[in-house]
Parts: sequence; C-alpha cells; structure tokens
Amino acid sequence: MGGERRGRGGGARRGGGGGGAGAAVVTGCSSGIGAALCGELARRGVRVFALGRDPGALRGLEAEGGAGGVVALRADVTDAQSLETAFAEAARQAPGGRIDLCVANAGVSGCGALAVQVRPPLPAPPPSFAPPAPPDRPPCAPPAGPRPPRRTAPPPPGRAASSDSGPLQEHRTVQSIFDTNVTGACATVQVAARHMLEQERQGPGGLRGVIAVTGSVTSEVCMPWAAAYCASKAAIKSLCRTSALELEPFGVRVTHLYTGAVKSKIADNALARDPLASYDAPDNPYHPYAAAIRGRARVSQGRAAWTAERYASEVATALLSPRPPREVVAGGGARALRLFARTLPERLQDWVACRRFGL
Ligand SMILES: NC(=O)c1ccc[n+]([C@@H]2O[C@H](COP(=O)([O-])OP(=O)(O)OC[C@H]3O[C@@H](n4cnc5c(N)ncnc54)[C@H](OP(=O)(O)O)[C@@H]3O)[C@@H](O)[C@H]2O)c1
Repeated sequence: MGGERRGRGGGARRGGGGGGAGAAVVTGCSSGIGAALCGELARRGVRVFALGRDPGALRGLEAEGGAGGVVALRADVTDAQSLETAFAEAARQAPGGRIDLCVANAGVSGCGALAVQVRPPLPAPPPSFAPPAPPDRPPCAPPAGPRPPRRTAPPPPGRAASSDSGPLQEHRTVQSIFDTNVTGACATVQVAARHMLEQERQGPGGLRGVIAVTGSVTSEVCMPWAAAYCASKAAIKSLCRTSALELEPFGVRVTHLYTGAVKSKIADNALARDPLASYDAPDNPYHPYAAAIRGRARVSQGRAAWTAERYASEVATALLSPRPPREVVAGGGARALRLFARTLPERLQDWVACRRFGL
C-alpha cells in the first residue's frame, strides 16, 4: 500500500494510517450500510475486504469492484475463529500486509416488548421447581379502551415458554442481538486492533489504523419496543469510548458511528426472524400494543431515512480524513436526536417517547 490515490473529500492522499486507508475490512456486507460502504471505499481507491456469513451474497460487490477492488471473505462475527481467519487472509492479500481501516458494522435489530423476549430455552425445570403462578394482575398499564382478559403470564427470565407457538412463544431475539451487536463487535475490534498494533505508524496523523463501529442514535435515545437493541447500541458507544482510550497511545483511532435512519434490510431481516405474530393473540399481555410494536419495527425505514449510499459517502469522507473524529454523526434524524438526548431532561424525553410509540 502507500500509493497515491484520490479521496473524494480531499484530493490525492498517501495511503496508510489516517491519511486515507489503503485496505479496509468491513463486516456485515451483504446489504444496507455494509454493502454501500464497501462500494464507496472501493470507488475511492481503497482495497476492501467485505466480510459476510455468506460470501455468495457478496459476489455482486466483488463484481462491481471500484478502483480499489472488493474481495469477499466469509466471517460470522459470533464466531471469533472465523473473524481471525478472515482478517489473516485480508492481511495476506492487502497491499503491504496492512489493514488501515476496519468497520465493525454487522448488526441485527429486534422489536418487541422485553418481558416477552426471552433468551433461548433452557431445559424445562422439573415440576417440583416450577415457579408459583404469578398474581392475576396486569404487568403494565394498558392503553385506553377495553382491555382483553389476561390469561397467561410471561415466562420468567431464562425459562422457556411451554410451547413454540402461541402468545408467549419463544423469542430468541435478546440473545442474538447481544451475540451479534455486542460480543461480535467486541471480537471484531479485538482482532482488528491486534493486527493494527503490529503495523508501523503511517500517514499524516501518524496512525497505525482506524477502527469504526456502527452504533446508533438508540445508544442515547431510549425508544420503546426495542430495549435489547437500544441496550446493545449503548454498549457499543461505551465500547468505542473505552477502547479509543486504550488504543490511542498506540496510534489506533476508534470512531463511533452515531447512526440515524438509513434505508437497508434491517427491518425486513428482523421481521423475518420474528414476524411479531405473537402480539396478535389476545392473551399476549402486550396485545393492545401490537400496532405500536409493528410501527416501531419499521421506524428507521421511513421518509427521513438516508439512502445507504449517502450515509456511506459521509462516513467514508470522515474515516479517510487525516484525523478521523471520535464520533461521526450521520443518517436521518441523527443530529436532531443527538441534540434531543443531550439537552432535554430525561423525563421529558420519556414523555415524548411514550407519545411517539403508543404507550
Ligand atoms: N439502518 C438503520 O437505520 C440503522 C440505524 C442505526 C444503526 N444501524 C446499524 O447499522 C448496521 C448495519 O445494518 P443495516 O441497517 O445495514 O442492516 P442490514 O441491511 O440488515 O445489514 C446487516 C448486515 O449485518 C450482517 N450480519 C448480521 N449478523 C451477522 C453475523 N452474525 N455475522 C456477520 N454478519 C452479520 C447481515 O448479514 P446476513 O445477510 O448474513 O444476515 C447484513 O449484511 C447494524 O449494526 C445496525 O445496527 C442501522
């Protein structure tokens, strides 16, 4: 690496470090933000290693290429070994063996009421250990209007629902959100950081490399019906801030991508995993909120959403600048929501959230 190339934001730059990445690894590239970032970086002359669970789904990116070229590699971020293997292969193929930029982007969303989103089933407890029946009272205040009779209670945390169908069917959402968005992002940052720590400092900023993680406005703005997703993105914000402190002395920059609404497959993918049918059953305690929960599932895909290409262009300009910022704010509503979260009292924020999401 190290050849001259032209960056859209600032003309010709020398590759390496923060002066513009010569080679980049991006996770979660089969659609949406990841796919758009690969295309944008490659067009700017960066050699891109596009990681995904199904390399077949990345062939289009490889074919489209761009000046830098795109190479598809298999990696599931919940499988640390597959990440190690993909990074090793990327470093082997990268010009000069350097990985200058890593974007930990893979993520999943999930919608629903936390009380009925439980982790994967544990073995059923023996009858003698069965918990006592909870008192027959509603767990939350229902919206105005006639309330259906409540016949079933949510399973206690960690306990499987009694069947795979019905109003309280098993949702594997919480565990998979944390496995992918938090543990997967941590693993990606770790593997990238280890590669970068072994590299020489390069570029105008004297950086060894840049690591960015796709976070979300939900790291600060608490949006009902997505507690696990919001919590996972709050963890990402913390991961970025903390690892930035640990890596800064060694010349590795960590950037939090504070992301607003962007057109992608995120809602379709979440609804394919959990179509929210369980909320249609009248004996689901959250049945009265079914419409609000469905609306929340697609909230990021409304008219305010940026195209993935616009988002990728803004992010690429920031990440390829000589001194990438610690935080990039991009996507529909991101600036306004950041201001909302950082200036209004929490009680006022909660009031707005309840009005917006049907509580
Ligand atoms: N779109 C928005 O409005 C928005 C807003 C804020 C933050 N974000 C964040 O942006 C990131 C990208 O999401 P997107 O909106 O572009 O959604 P998307 O179109 O659904 O893309 C998500 C990508 O992550 C991949 N992925 C999921 N689990 C994975 C795993 N275990 N290992 C490797 N890859 C995995 C998916 O690959 P498969 O094809 O294999 O499933 C897909 O390529 C996520 O972190 C998301 O939380 C999005």
